Amino acid sequence: MSDFEQGYFEDIYGGDYDRRNPEYKTRGMMDALLRFETGGRMVDIGCAYGAFLKQASQAGTFELYGTDISAHAVEVAQQRLGDAAQLQVGGLFDSEFEPGFFDVVCLFDVIEHIEDQDAAFARIREFLRPSGLLALTVPVYDGPLGRVVEALDNDPTHLHKIGRRDWVQACRSRDFEVMHWFGLYRYFVGGRVYAYYQSRFGRRWAPAIMLLARPR
Ligand SMILES: C[S@@+](CC[C@H](N)C(=O)[O-])C[C@H]1O[C@@H](n2cnc3c(N)ncnc32)[C@H](O)[C@@H]1O
Repeated sequence: MSDFEQGYFEDIYGGDYDRRNPEYKTRGMMDALLRFETGGRMVDIGCAYGAFLKQASQAGTFELYGTDISAHAVEVAQQRLGDAAQLQVGGLFDSEFEPGFFDVVCLFDVIEHIEDQDAAFARIREFLRPSGLLALTVPVYDGPLGRVVEALDNDPTHLHKIGRRDWVQACRSRDFEVMHWFGLYRYFVGGRVYAYYQSRFGRRWAPAIMLLARPR
């Protein structure tokens, strides 16, 4: 059993996965992605309960796949998505797809959980078609809000707590060209309202970022 079964979602998301993944958040992320890739095969690795895949299905131009190391998460995603996406239980290194199978590979708040970053980027590259698109989101621990992010971070499975420039460099050093990156402001205010705002201009201060990159 993985570290990401039902208890993880109850402890880390406080049972609020849905409120932390509102439609306006996944739509903003999808709109950013659509500027670079408008269709084809897409996989969401670490898809959890499938909120992003649900959003992506509305574009109507992608053949959708999702994987997650958590059997619990995939079971919930399967109930919610039906046949809108093909789902499998498995970690990044267990999933089996043909090399170059995907036009888009997404990992949203997932790559920082994976210990061996060289192997993770190599695996992603293997899944992507040569000019495909990698979409990542990650929390960042530098900048004026870095200490706040650190203080609010209650997820012991975060293995890489690094800054925004470190992630840009992490992509570049594994031969990905970063096409675009921007800031994500996301707060669960008072345990009630999920505030979300994404901005290219505020990227130096944001507590999280989204990167869009292609293999060089
Ligand atoms: C913080 S949650 C993010 C979930 C979702 N992507 C989102 O944006 O809400 C991390 C997810 O990654 C999954 N995960 C962790 N390690 C993984 C791995 N090595 N391969 C695939 N999924 C993994 C967990 O089960 C969990 O669903």
